Amino acid sequence: MSHGEKPALVAALRQGRRAGRRIVLRVSTRASARHALVGQAHLWAMKRRFQFEFLTCRGLRPHHTLLDIGCGTLRGGIPLIEYLHTGHYVGIEARQAVLMEARRELAEAGLEHKRPRLIHAADPAQVRLASRVDSAWAFSVLIHMPDDTVSAYLRFVARVLTPGGELYANVILGTGRESTWQGFPVISRSREHYLRLAADESLIADELGPLADLGHRSGCSQDEQIMLRFTPACR
Ligand SMILES: C[S@@+](CC[C@H](N)C(=O)[O-])C[C@H]1O[C@@H](n2cnc3c(N)ncnc32)[C@H](O)[C@@H]1O
Repeated sequence: MSHGEKPALVAALRQGRRAGRRIVLRVSTRASARHALVGQAHLWAMKRRFQFEFLTCRGLRPHHTLLDIGCGTLRGGIPLIEYLHTGHYVGIEARQAVLMEARRELAEAGLEHKRPRLIHAADPAQVRLASRVDSAWAFSVLIHMPDDTVSAYLRFVARVLTPGGELYANVILGTGRESTWQGFPVISRSREHYLRLAADESLIADELGPLADLGHRSGCSQDEQIMLRFTPACR
């Protein structure tokens, strides 16, 4: 290398490194923006892990079929789709733009061949499933639904669950003031309220305890939310 070529090479390397940093930054900014569509981005990995560990510890097996209500960007969905047999994951999501991000997440994870069914709907009355599901999941979803929407989903679940199936969903117990999150309400209701909504749809609801006791570690009040299990009243 001649004397004059050396500074040019150093400058080119520096420029390359800067471009590399810009690409990494752009990719991580895009990921954070996607993660923020379903909650605080710094809790994303913990919440992904929690969902998979919770459901598999409760007996979800690859041959089961899972309905993920309010699946969002597939934060919990990706490891579940990977785990379940092809075509055994069904996600319902109310926001079209979020579902588009879910499809990108699926492609980036290289899991399109698992053919999950991703349905854009806010009202389950519009949803037709090809077959019943063994398990249903609504993580951080019922807390964003008005009562009539919760009832509509419980009615739907009661209809599509296999006799031994169950729905797990976390709720905020209380009668506190309602706030909002990304245009959705944040709702707290009494235990009796959820038991009543369940009974109206021929389901039994029981309490599994606070998320903290089930492995959810956010370091904030979300850990105090309660996990409920809904099962058909007549099995
Ligand atoms: C806090 S995010 C949780 C997403 C996902 N369950 C997860 O844990 O990654 C709540 C999701 O529920 C969706 N949602 C709210 N109301 C809905 C409805 N009526 N039907 C389907 N999805 C709904 C929202 O659009 C949002 O993506």
